[in-house]
Amino acid sequence: MTQTQAVAGPQGELLLRTMPLPADTSFNGDIFGGWIMAQMDLAGSMMAKEVTRTRTATVAVESMQFIKPVRVGDVVCCYGRVQRIGTTSVTIMLEVWVRPILHADKNQFTNFKVTEAAITYVALGEDGRKQPIRKSKADT
Ligand SMILES: CC(C)(COP(=O)(O)OP(=O)(O)OC[C@H]1O[C@@H](n2cnc3c(N)ncnc32)[C@H](O)[C@@H]1OP(=O)(O)O)[C@@H](O)C(=O)NCCC(=O)NCCS
Repeated sequence: MTQTQAVAGPQGELLLRTMPLPADTSFNGDIFGGWIMAQMDLAGSMMAKEVTRTRTATVAVESMQFIKPVRVGDVVCCYGRVQRIGTTSVTIMLEVWVRPILHADKNQFTNFKVTEAAITYVALGEDGRKQPIRKSKADT
C-alpha cells in the first residue's frame, strides 16, 4: 500500500454507537446484515435531516460489501460525512467500524471496518413529496 492509499481509521463524524443483541443474529450466529444496514440508514438519516431540515426518505443505497462479521457484544459505530448535496437529495457516505470489546485480546481493542456505503436521502415536504433543499447561509 502506498502512502497516499493509507487511511488511518474511520472517516467522518461519529453518528451512532450501539451494541447488537442475540436477537439480532442470523442463523449462523453472526449479526444479521439487515440489522447493520438498518443502523446505517438510521445514522445517515440523522445527518441528512441536519442538512435538509425536513423529513427525508431513503431513495438509494449504493452497493455494499460486508468485509468482516459482527458478533454479539461488539460495539458498532457508524460514521458519516456529506458526500453531495443536490437539488432535493443529499448523499451521505457511511462507514461502520467495530470495537470488539468482548472478543479482543486483553485490552487490545483493534477497531476494524465492517462495511461502507453511500446512502441518498430525499427531502420531503409535509405533503410527502420531494422538495428543494434550502441552502443555509453557511452554504452560500
Ligand atoms: C423519494 C421519492 C419521493 C422521490 O420521488 P421522485 O419524484 O420520483 O424523485 P426523483 O426521481 O426526481 O429523484 C429525487 C432526487 O433523488 C435522486 N435519486 C433518485 N433515484 C436515485 C438513485 N437511484 N440514486 C441516487 N439518487 C437518486 C435524484 O437524483 C433526485 O435528486 P436531486 O433533486 O438532488 O437531483 C420517491 O422515490 C419515494 O417515495 N420513494 C420511496 C422512499 C421510501 O419509502 N423509502 C424508504 C425505503 S422502504
